[in-house]
Amino acid sequence: MIPDKAPKDDVFHGAEEIRSGAHVPTFEKYKEMYMQSVQDPDKFWGDMAKEFFWKTKHNGRFLDYNFDVTKGDIFIKCMEGASTNVCYNVLDRNVHDRKLGDKVAFFWEGNEPGDELTVTYRELLNSVCRFANVLKSQGVKKGDRVAIYMPMVVELVVAMLACARIGAVHSIVFAGFSAESLCERIVDSQCSLLITADGFYRGDKLINLKLLADEAVQKCRDKGFSLETCIVLKHLSKEAPETSLSSPPAKRPCPDLQETETGRVRKTHPVPQVPWNPKVDKCWHTLMCEVSDECEPEWCASEDPLFILYTSGSTGKPKGVLHTISGYMIYTAATFKLVFDHRPDDIYWCTADIGWITGHSYITYGPLANGATSVLFEGLPTYPDVSRMWQIVDKYHVSKFYTAPTAIRLLMKYGSEPVHKYKRDSLKVLGTVGEPINPEAWQWYFTVVGDSRCPIVDTFWQTETGGHVMTPLPAATPMKPGSATFPFFGVVPAILNESGEELEGTSEGYLVFKQPWPGVMRTVYGNHGRFESTYFKKFPGYYVTGDGCRRDEDGYYWITGRIDDMLNVSGHLLSTAEVESALVGHEAVAEAAVVGRPHPVKGESLYCFVTLCDGVIFNRTLEAQLKKQVREKIGAIATPDFIQDAPALPKTRSGKIMRRVLRKIASGERDLGDISTLADSSVVEQLFQNRCCSAV
Ligand code: WT7
Repeated sequence: MIPDKAPKDDVFHGAEEIRSGAHVPTFEKYKEMYMQSVQDPDKFWGDMAKEFFWKTKHNGRFLDYNFDVTKGDIFIKCMEGASTNVCYNVLDRNVHDRKLGDKVAFFWEGNEPGDELTVTYRELLNSVCRFANVLKSQGVKKGDRVAIYMPMVVELVVAMLACARIGAVHSIVFAGFSAESLCERIVDSQCSLLITADGFYRGDKLINLKLLADEAVQKCRDKGFSLETCIVLKHLSKEAPETSLSSPPAKRPCPDLQETETGRVRKTHPVPQVPWNPKVDKCWHTLMCEVSDECEPEWCASEDPLFILYTSGSTGKPKGVLHTISGYMIYTAATFKLVFDHRPDDIYWCTADIGWITGHSYITYGPLANGATSVLFEGLPTYPDVSRMWQIVDKYHVSKFYTAPTAIRLLMKYGSEPVHKYKRDSLKVLGTVGEPINPEAWQWYFTVVGDSRCPIVDTFWQTETGGHVMTPLPAATPMKPGSATFPFFGVVPAILNESGEELEGTSEGYLVFKQPWPGVMRTVYGNHGRFESTYFKKFPGYYVTGDGCRRDEDGYYWITGRIDDMLNVSGHLLSTAEVESALVGHEAVAEAAVVGRPHPVKGESLYCFVTLCDGVIFNRTLEAQLKKQVREKIGAIATPDFIQDAPALPKTRSGKIMRRVLRKIASGERDLGDISTLADSSVVEQLFQNRCCSAV
């Protein structure tokens, strides 16, 4: 378990002045709180729950659960009997009870330097109430699912909180996903309404989001699912020309967020032509003008759904991870407060996109529950140049900064000069998430970005866990570069061997959790059986993460990466099966096998082996077509880096593809280990000879 004393050697600490006054000041305090959290979770979380407003109190246990498939259905219930509203807790309570109405909730920083917008808690509440009324006016009711496909703008937060306010369930689809992916998610969760935007810029590239949304709506229709309404935010320009079948919506002043902005209309970039179907499409601003800014929150039961967020599944079909109201709210608030050691005057910046769980938990819910001030950034770390992040840190005096190893490795390539151009003296805590951080990147982050002053919180978690589960606390935990260190409160990890036995002391195996914490997912939307079989079947009694893990002699946990058929590309999980099925969807491909190949910036790159149908010749044109096929089916993040023509694939005698061998071929490692089960070993040599070697 947790060692009695933290090690003194080979560990790093943040500077004393940063650690003083912390919520959890020492390792001893962490240990003491940890013990309370696992021995008496009802008391521990019950105390945390006192920070929130409850319309009715819970009766019975704080957490009730079954993690053992052999004993019946898997379930997790938190605060049964209680009712509340998340939106009320993160906005109204801050504005009215805590008098934070004038405090800035978000400094929005656009893709283009100079594009900015400041939104206070009061303004946010006002817009959310209006938009909640808009949703109601469009017929959205409690329990209905609403799809959101938007760029990183404040209105995205407004849309999600408006759903929460009326008890609707948001299902956000990352704006980098394809029309096909959006359609698949809309149909799976039967969304009645879609919220999108005209478009946005990523660096100097225009993404015409509305065209993709239209394509998705059409695809839904083709599948027999009709989505009645699409609300479109004109982000790029209020005056965006509409190739409308009817007259465009009136351009009258709207008392919502847009009126307080400066220069959101791009002067240097063209705005897209937005097709408009008046039967379906409704203008965000017009609708906002027609409603009141008062909206009574819908009081919901603790275990009512809050949102669905899709994550890759090893069978290829994405899983709709479902999170519910009370547990998720308490857990994201508690982890945000303690892991970033949040203080009222902090300026916090998480660079993730809200389309991923990191953005849900640590841009929207966790920070707002704490009344935090955040930077919400629309752009890229490299636009207009590779100093952008540090320029933003200085501009807003960011004190807590949270990003991904892939971004750190990308910026590392340019050396320390672009970092040192800026002072960064406001920084206090640095965070990382998404994949294991290699010690070189950790050291660079610590010394160059944080001037060896700021502790680094390497937060391990998953879409499914809702919030951080293994992480250092900035003042309490001595850090080891590359280790996510110890469990957060209430989390009980174990390492299992292949036979499901718990390993003690120094060991390596499957990372599992023995009991729930409030923020853990409750089900796969519409498929509880899949929830049980994915996470609870392999080792009855445990939640299985799918990650490998090592525990060292000091009791530190080191995540070693996925041990299922998932790839982690730039901190995003992709399922090999999903990419394979996109490839075999092409008429020229008979069979495909996809593996990860180590990549210096992305962590892993996609290396695809394709066996073509008889008579088809592999050439550049086909390669380009296949890449396009995957991009269109899934999205740009899944674009293959390498495609190799594989006349045959290495298979066992029972016909199973030996991915382990393919991984070695992809990375050019000749030492293949035991290949005695291979049906035909000559296949391997042939594949080695035709390897794709070029760097991407
Ligand atoms: C997978 C979950 C949690 C938000 C982002 C990704 C990997 C995540 C770490 C870390 C080592 C990490 C794991 C995990 N992962 N954080 N700090 N150290 N690995 O969410 O898409 O659900 O992916 O990301 O493999 O299972 P996700």
